[in-house]
Amino acid sequence: MTSRSPNLIARAPGFVYHKTKRGIFRRGEQFVLHCEDVALPKVAERYGTPLYVYSATMIRDRYDTFDAAFRDLPHTLCYSVKANSNLAILRMLAKKGCGFDVVSGGELERVLVADRKAARNVVFSGVGKTREELTAALKAGIMLFNVESESELWALAECAVRLRKIAPIALRVNPDVAAETHPYISTGLRKHKFGVPIREARALYAQASGARNLKVCGVSVHIGSQITDVAPFGEAMARVADLVRELRRDGHRIDYIDGGGGLGIDYDTQNGENLSLDVTAYAKAVTAPLRGLNIRLLLEPGRAIIGPAGILLTSVVYRKTNDGKRFLVVDAAMNDLIRPALYGAFHEIIPVVQNPESPARLEVTDIVGPVCETGDFFARDRELPPVEEGELLAILDAGAYGMVLASNYNTRPRAAEVLVSGKSVKVIRRREKVSDLLRNEL
Ligand code: LLP
Repeated sequence: MTSRSPNLIARAPGFVYHKTKRGIFRRGEQFVLHCEDVALPKVAERYGTPLYVYSATMIRDRYDTFDAAFRDLPHTLCYSVKANSNLAILRMLAKKGCGFDVVSGGELERVLVADRKAARNVVFSGVGKTREELTAALKAGIMLFNVESESELWALAECAVRLRKIAPIALRVNPDVAAETHPYISTGLRKHKFGVPIREARALYAQASGARNLKVCGVSVHIGSQITDVAPFGEAMARVADLVRELRRDGHRIDYIDGGGGLGIDYDTQNGENLSLDVTAYAKAVTAPLRGLNIRLLLEPGRAIIGPAGILLTSVVYRKTNDGKRFLVVDAAMNDLIRPALYGAFHEIIPVVQNPESPARLEVTDIVGPVCETGDFFARDRELPPVEEGELLAILDAGAYGMVLASNYNTRPRAAEVLVSGKSVKVIRRREKVSDLLRNEL
């Protein structure tokens, strides 16, 4: 155990500690984590835990920062819906003129419910689009189909003929570029299931341009997610730029390059990452190879927009010690946030209330959920100030790939979500009840 002064880790401007009076009957002050202007203990009291809390200001700011970094090039940001698909968040982004990257008929439907007019800024990716999904997207009139195989190309042509529509297409090419990230979310290597090998793309483009209901108009690439070194993005783009030049020589009209998503965030820095710095380097890497190409750049950021703008708020149910090993058992579990269990992902975890006068010891503890699997943990051997039963913890950077990956494992109803803007707190998803889970069972 080491002595300490409060470690006020923040994700500004959305999640910061404010010094507040302890209450009417108790003297002294404490540091209380706020989301924007709202104290998180109040939010927890009102809406219960586990609870996803998002900062609207942060989402908007991050979108603007990302957008500004690409100001030198005609571009459209197509927010990757899979990162966080809550309707209120989609609606907020649509209002800012954001486009969307969808990977299923369900995601497309969400976008259309959020904003009917958003269809014209939708790109549709994914290796397994069904004919029903392709048909729905054709009817909606989306901007671009990112086609990932020859079979899909013909399926799309067939659907388009049936509907008497023209399908705007890009081939998603696999550039065979290695990007350092977790193997489950790296996508740009030959051995991965995604896209078509870049060497075979030209032949396929030639075939596509022969189909009357397909309109070749772009090239698309996505090399993976949570990538923090920007060099591989540049490498992939350089290969795509070469291909675009070849395709144009072949007589194709290429208006779009879709650079995919993938810019990572710093989960384990004490102050959060500096998006503006990271996205500037990213923009430089991505756009340098495109100079003189005269194209519209599409990008599909997910995590970089929403990741740090959300936390998972959870209460400590029990403290326990097994043979000297300490555990905090909390009321959130792997079914609420699976990233640590699935990828061994690191999330910063902080006490919502910290006491400035008695800088206490730090305890080394595991933070675990109630699910019956050893894999159900949020942190292992983490140093934390002592947190009592009933107190709150915030699991940071849970805005992306948090709620969207939640399940009902162990018949646990899924958490509620709230969106904070200044002093206002809006429920954007009601807490599920067990009866909701049983409804579809016969
Ligand atoms: N575009 C395509 C085609 C994608 O497959 C993805 C993510 C994105 C865009 C958005 O990538 P982002 O900007 O968010 O990195 N569940 C994992 C991440 C899976 C990413 C899947 N594809 C995690 O929690 O880390």
